Amino acid sequence: MERFITFEGIEGCGKSTQVNLAGSYLKQHSIPFITTEEPGGTPIGRRVREMLLNKAPYDSANNKMCAETELLLFSAARAQHVREVILPALKDGKVILCDRFSDATIAYQGFGRGLDIDLIRLINDFSSDGLKPDFTLLFDLPVEMGLKRAMERISSNKGIPAEDRFEREALEFHSRVREGYLSLVRNEPDRFRIVDASKDIESVHHEVCVHLSQFTNEKL
Ligand code: TMP
Repeated sequence: MERFITFEGIEGCGKSTQVNLAGSYLKQHSIPFITTEEPGGTPIGRRVREMLLNKAPYDSANNKMCAETELLLFSAARAQHVREVILPALKDGKVILCDRFSDATIAYQGFGRGLDIDLIRLINDFSSDGLKPDFTLLFDLPVEMGLKRAMERISSNKGIPAEDRFEREALEFHSRVREGYLSLVRNEPDRFRIVDASKDIESVHHEVCVHLSQFTNEKL
């Protein structure tokens, strides 16, 4: 079964917008699909997301979260997400458009936080029941540009509790995350497609459609 597509990238890369636009593209082609996200995707995952991203009411207490707790919470949310949402949808023959998955844990908790990558791979295998994406779009852009966009988005959401625990990390952290993603691409060039996320939304969507059309023509 080759229908599990993930969207990855650093902060402000625009992948969530592109997940939704890709959904519209699949709809136009009458391809059954779901969109989902990590952390989140299930009621349990959404509660874990609040803790991880520091959304009120947790707030400042979560600034003390250590890297190990962070890794295990992302993994707990994934374990639930895979079993409650992704595997059943794959069984129903649907395409899954997933906003982040286990590559994010390697990039953020491995390269970003410096936790052991082999250990993360083991935990990823356990939490995802061995499930790997068939196809991953990496939305790549310079870190400064991504962070600027992310901060603009956060400050325009006045009154909505911010999910900004990661955005507030130092530039070096985000540079390591970007480098982590690019090294994943080098290791598995067949699974990844790099999309130039510095372009405007429409151009990026066009590039995504080109990749998806290759995928849908060949694989569905
Ligand atoms: P997003 O929904 O805006 O992409 O936010 C999710 C945040 O969580 C983002 O900063 C990346 C981070 N993250 C990790 O650090 N590890 C993970 O395994 C996942 C799925 C996300």
